[in-house]
Amino acid sequence: MPDILISEAIQGAAVDALRSRFDVLYQPALWESPGALAKAVRCCRALIVRNQTPVTASLVVAGKELVVIGRAGVGLDNVDTRAADDAGIVVAFTPDQNAISVAELAIGMMLSLARFIPAADRDTKSGNWNRHRFTGAEVYGKTFGIVGAGKIGYLTARRAKAFGMRILACDPFLSPDNTMLCELQAELVELDELLARADVVSCHLPSTPLTVGMFDAARFRAMKSGALFINTARGNVVSEPALLEALKNGRLGGAALDVRSKEPPQIGELEALPNVILTPHIGAFTHEAQDRVATAICRDVTRVLDGMPAMNAVHRAVPARPA
Ligand code: MLT
Repeated sequence: MPDILISEAIQGAAVDALRSRFDVLYQPALWESPGALAKAVRCCRALIVRNQTPVTASLVVAGKELVVIGRAGVGLDNVDTRAADDAGIVVAFTPDQNAISVAELAIGMMLSLARFIPAADRDTKSGNWNRHRFTGAEVYGKTFGIVGAGKIGYLTARRAKAFGMRILACDPFLSPDNTMLCELQAELVELDELLARADVVSCHLPSTPLTVGMFDAARFRAMKSGALFINTARGNVVSEPALLEALKNGRLGGAALDVRSKEPPQIGELEALPNVILTPHIGAFTHEAQDRVATAICRDVTRVLDGMPAMNAVHRAVPARPA
């Protein structure tokens, strides 16, 4: 009987180390088959997932022996953490380990949009030499707005600050004397003010009932004319039809999306716009972040199975069931 079920692709030295201690069932495509997943989880004490395995209340019930669910990543929208908590199961996650990688991607997207790097690359490779067509804008002296000022928002803003940008932040959980805001000399403002003033809006919100659909037609209308919009957080906080309209009518200067309301998305009009950059949810996909995430989640799963508290747990650090 396996001790640990891994239902998505997670590899490396940390997983090898898990294998040396425990019986690990590694089924990286199992997340696609909820029936088989529910069957496989029945006898396991730990389940390790990324963001694609739907850890629903019924999967939690099916995992009768589960003591820990390890979410290799930061977003918890695919895990019913309440159901797990009610069942006495620890949900461990890796809140900080991929933050630098996501922040670096967001900054890369900003520069790519401001200087038309992907479009200029495509044009030049097709044999052209259109220097004037790709006249961009400096980000120096412009205003960078983070919507959601957690670890990733902070690290992104810190990098934007290094480019000489002014920082605005919107986050209902922070107060103006927050040390991170002070360090960045950032102004804490309401969302409407941020949208009206920022030249670049970078979204760093989790997906919750309060944030789903937050960027709708009215919010895009409220943005500064020609502003750039970047989303490396969760796709469903943005209404894609509203974003498309704001790009088509010229309200926005460009958009970069690493996350979509449906992943993978269907090819549509966004894919055809030259001022849109799309990437396949790769914010956390660097060798460094993947190593850190795998190490952290394997460590916490091992700790719980060994009877120790998880270092990064959502509700409870020790299971109510014997490990
Ligand atoms: C995260 O939530 O950690 C990132 O979106 C990456 C992922 O889910 O794998």
